[in-house]
Amino acid sequence: MKTVSASAPGKIILLGEHAVVYDQPAVAVPVSQVQATAWITSAPDAAPESIFINAPQVQISSPINELAPDQPLAAAVWLALSRLHITQPPAFTLTLQSDIPIAAGLGSGAATSVAIIRALSRFFNQSLPEEEVSALAFEVEKIHHGHPSGIDNTVITWEKPVFYQKNLPVELIDIPAPLTFVIANTGISAPTAKIVMDVRRRYSEAPVMFEQIFSSIGEISRQGVQAIRRGNLEELGSLMNANQDRLEEIGVSSPELDHLIASARQAGAWGAKLSGAGKGGNMIALVRAEDASKISDSLREAGAVQTFTTTVQPSPCLLGEK
Ligand code: PMV
Repeated sequence: MKTVSASAPGKIILLGEHAVVYDQPAVAVPVSQVQATAWITSAPDAAPESIFINAPQVQISSPINELAPDQPLAAAVWLALSRLHITQPPAFTLTLQSDIPIAAGLGSGAATSVAIIRALSRFFNQSLPEEEVSALAFEVEKIHHGHPSGIDNTVITWEKPVFYQKNLPVELIDIPAPLTFVIANTGISAPTAKIVMDVRRRYSEAPVMFEQIFSSIGEISRQGVQAIRRGNLEELGSLMNANQDRLEEIGVSSPELDHLIASARQAGAWGAKLSGAGKGGNMIALVRAEDASKISDSLREAGAVQTFTTTVQPSPCLLGEK
């Protein structure tokens, strides 16, 4: 019996969500401390070509043929097999496990797809370049989201901070200093596809105003990437706050998010904002490492159902530089 596995991280969007759907740049970083993992195990005793999917967290335990072809887990398998030119696969079981909260703006769907695609390419001893892993995961994202920008599959595949703009080559950001974030969950489930559609409806009612807001967010992302490269975290925090103001203007924040964001700022964060589609899910606060546990405590007191701290480590090539 042969078993292979692959994992992929969660992600947060530092700057630029929603505007990125409208061709503006955005900045995202991986959250390596939470992972989705896929295991492929050969099933020599099962009927040839039978594929079984076991994903207890989403209550799926089923032969793939009993799932709709566009069910996201099945779609990731079919797309990967097709790209790997496997027309008559040997019987196998796909098992999934993830500690990335679902529908919370942390990229759980894209991470699961990337893990499945990588595990299958390993199982069939074929290497797929990052661009292709990301492109296949993007196809699955379209099923989850309708009109995704592609930022989730990109940052999750490369597992590095990215400056991302639709239809342009991905720019990896080298960071000179660690970035520490406290991430706090409102506990409110936030379906990205619906929120993105609501924004599209409001955009169509006031296109000039929305274009202005999106281009101001794009400018914030450009300034943000410079602040990150200079290691100026105070400025990055202010830019996150300015971005949150714009997100409130387009109607994707919520009273619960606003409350957690205010609490994090009051407790000493450099900056705080929602991350992802909004209306619920998670908020993020950029903090001094030594303040993280104090700010986490304040967020839980303010009603967060879960908090965790993540640090994006400096790029190895910049370690030791000022
Ligand atoms: O909710 P998430 O983490 O999938 O993030 C969505 C980010 C949006 O900009 C709102 C949509 C997108 O496809 O970029």
